[in-house]
Amino acid sequence: VEAALSSGPLSGRRVVVTSGPTHEPIDPVRYIANRSSGAQGSAIAAALRDLGAEVVFVTGPAETPRPTGVEVIEVETAREMRDAVKAALPADAGVFAAAVADWHVEGASASKIKKGPDGAPALRFSENPDILAEVSQMGAGRPTLLVGFAAETDDVIAHATAKRARKRCDWIVANDVSPATGIMGGTENAVTLISGDGQEEWPRAGKVEVARRLADRIAAALGRA
Ligand code: CTP
Ligand code: CA
Repeated sequence: VEAALSSGPLSGRRVVVTSGPTHEPIDPVRYIANRSSGAQGSAIAAALRDLGAEVVFVTGPAETPRPTGVEVIEVETAREMRDAVKAALPADAGVFAAAVADWHVEGASASKIKKGPDGAPALRFSENPDILAEVSQMGAGRPTLLVGFAAETDDVIAHATAKRARKRCDWIVANDVSPATGIMGGTENAVTLISGDGQEEWPRAGKVEVARRLADRIAAALGRA
């Protein structure tokens, strides 16, 4: 494991990155989840590390290899991710790239549900904590810079702009993940950075390149903070 760079624009800065999906159990063998490879989140953690940041990488069960040279915290559910993120604070910045499941199954079964004559089980869902909104609105101890993501299929900019206002995060990285774009599960991303200064469309590029560009922007913003 490489040590954090002692120099670099983010040396001495601590950043919490969330990544991957969360899995919400139905029973010990079944779950619900959002689609997420974790590729963009891993690349962001690596890019921040390369600028000298101390990175806490809180990840759900993603297929992408974990970045080296960062503190990796593995979680399964949204509630575990929330607890891990809060335990990792204080931090200078948070980059919340995880595709957090919006609901968990109420009263998940401790033993495997068997098929039977009664037909399909009726699942009841409860809403998961909104980690980004909670951390954005925590008052004392809030990281200086909070970056959320908005993966949308329709009215991308309008939805992402509304999300930034609702959650009160500083920036939203918005992207169109309609199947035709090939972004979900692919190696490239095409994003729009939405901040208090307006919108900036970035050219489609590899997820590693997008991560580097975002890390540079974070370093510039914290440098001014
Ligand atoms: N997020 C979070 N905790 C949740 C849901 C979302 O921290 N329970 C974060 C994501 O990591 C992302 C941002 O909030 O940075 C936006 O996530 P998204 O799923 O697009 O927003 P939602 O508010 O869940 O809205 P919806 O899924 O209905 O579009
Ligand atoms: Ca969601």
